[in-house]
Amino acid sequence: MKKILITGALGQIGSELTTHLRNIYGKDNVIASGRRIVEESTIVQSGSYELVDVLDPKQIDTVVKKYNIDSIIHLAAILSAVGESNPSAAWNININGLYNVLEVARENKCALFTPSSIAAFGKSSPLDNTPQDTVQRPETIYGVTKVSGELLCDYYHKKYGLDTRGVRYPGVISYETLPGGGTTDYAVHIYYEALKRRKYTCFIQEGTYMDMMYMPDVLNCVVNLMEADPSKLKHRNAFNVTSISCAPEDFCNSIKKYIPDFQMDYDIDPIRQAIAESWPNSMDCTAAKEEWGFSVKYNLDEMTKDMLEKLKMKLDIKA
Ligand code: SER
Repeated sequence: MKKILITGALGQIGSELTTHLRNIYGKDNVIASGRRIVEESTIVQSGSYELVDVLDPKQIDTVVKKYNIDSIIHLAAILSAVGESNPSAAWNININGLYNVLEVARENKCALFTPSSIAAFGKSSPLDNTPQDTVQRPETIYGVTKVSGELLCDYYHKKYGLDTRGVRYPGVISYETLPGGGTTDYAVHIYYEALKRRKYTCFIQEGTYMDMMYMPDVLNCVVNLMEADPSKLKHRNAFNVTSISCAPEDFCNSIKKYIPDFQMDYDIDPIRQAIAESWPNSMDCTAAKEEWGFSVKYNLDEMTKDMLEKLKMKLDIKA
């Protein structure tokens, strides 16, 4: 990767990935983009930022040509819970947006990274140690778009030789930017509430396991996969990756090690609970390890310690 365009750069992953890639590849070589301009955002202030609506192929193409982009990191997407409340928007942005980006990548010979998700699996997939290659019959519109996206990216690789790569991200935990309406969001909110109120009401049922990953490991996946030797990649779209398989009570117990009077109760959201139950409890990441050396740095307690320290500073909480 030499000249990189990031779509959805103001989102949960984009806002940190932009800074991470600017540190590695140089400030002038990472162009952030999104559908809106937020002047006060550090992303907008710390380098090039372009207005790009992924539903407008001309806008994508203009920016790719303007900066001589060779790699696109396509993050603009609608998440699971928001997708269920607006399926047509989820289809439009997640599929038509991806199609537009693929076409621009094909015409301009760019490599492309775009994430899939644990949502690409469904109840009929084996949910424990979910294999890399297995049944994928998701029942959410988000999951449907993610499986379709995986197939579309594979198709562009086989048909046009496009260098498409991706991972199936688990729930992403971070302190910089909040996630925008997913099922795993509770695992971010719990840390904010632990610091602000010392209690949290969880919308996911005790005992519901899902895969999770801390942001520094999420960012490393992009760099390590995009820099991997293509001759070693048997899979491309998309690799299972995870670091922590957790239920809500595991987060609670981990937080209690640092905030002993923290309390959690439950008020279950039936829609997000049903989604969570249809997703893997834990994915098998063997293919990612073997094909591009996937590894992670943070386990649950290490992540909790770091999250609480960083959030405390961000929220200016003294005690
Ligand atoms: N974090 C996402 C969601 O909950 C899963 O990819 O929608």
